[in-house]
Amino acid sequence: MGLNANDFRKAMGSFATGVTVITVDQEGEVHGMTANAFTAVSLDPVLVLVCVDHQARTHAHLQARKRFGVNVLRRDQQAISEYYAGPAETHQHAEAAGARFDRTAQGTPVLQGALAYLECRLHSAQPAGDHTIFIAEVEHVEARGGEPLLYFRSQYR
Ligand SMILES: Cc1cc2nc3c(=O)[nH]c(=O)nc-3n(C[C@H](O)[C@H](O)[C@H](O)COP(=O)(O)O)c2cc1C
Repeated sequence: MGLNANDFRKAMGSFATGVTVITVDQEGEVHGMTANAFTAVSLDPVLVLVCVDHQARTHAHLQARKRFGVNVLRRDQQAISEYYAGPAETHQHAEAAGARFDRTAQGTPVLQGALAYLECRLHSAQPAGDHTIFIAEVEHVEARGGEPLLYFRSQYR
């Protein structure tokens, strides 16, 4: 690559984002992954996208389940972001990080206390380098009051 990867990371890190946890039902268990490569795509139909590393376990789970939740984190949910960005084999200790879940009618895990929740059904998947762009139709949303958790230059704000 002609471009230096660190310079690329630094430049992209200047773009402040919110933080989400992508949740997938994994045979009755909750699987979560912290993600900020999330954006709206279309209003009609209502589509969003999330970019997921091929190495992430979530990648296989999304392809298998074809349904997921996007939970937008609140300012006081940094520990949850850190937990779901970690390499834990299982997510059995999520409660210690403050993560508790409800389930939608479709069985998708919803993080309690998040700023917003979007119930998503996979529309298409586009391989792009070492990530896949998962595009999904949004079937249901909930937005609540509160302040967001932000991510800027590799730090939470
Ligand atoms: C703030 C933040 C944002 C992240 N955003 C993404 C992302 O958009 N896509 C991605 O594939 N990984 C992202 N990651 C890394 C994953 O959360 C991390 O690799 C995680 O361990 C993958 O979990 P899994 O293997 O259980 O799927 C992010 C990490 C942090 C801390």
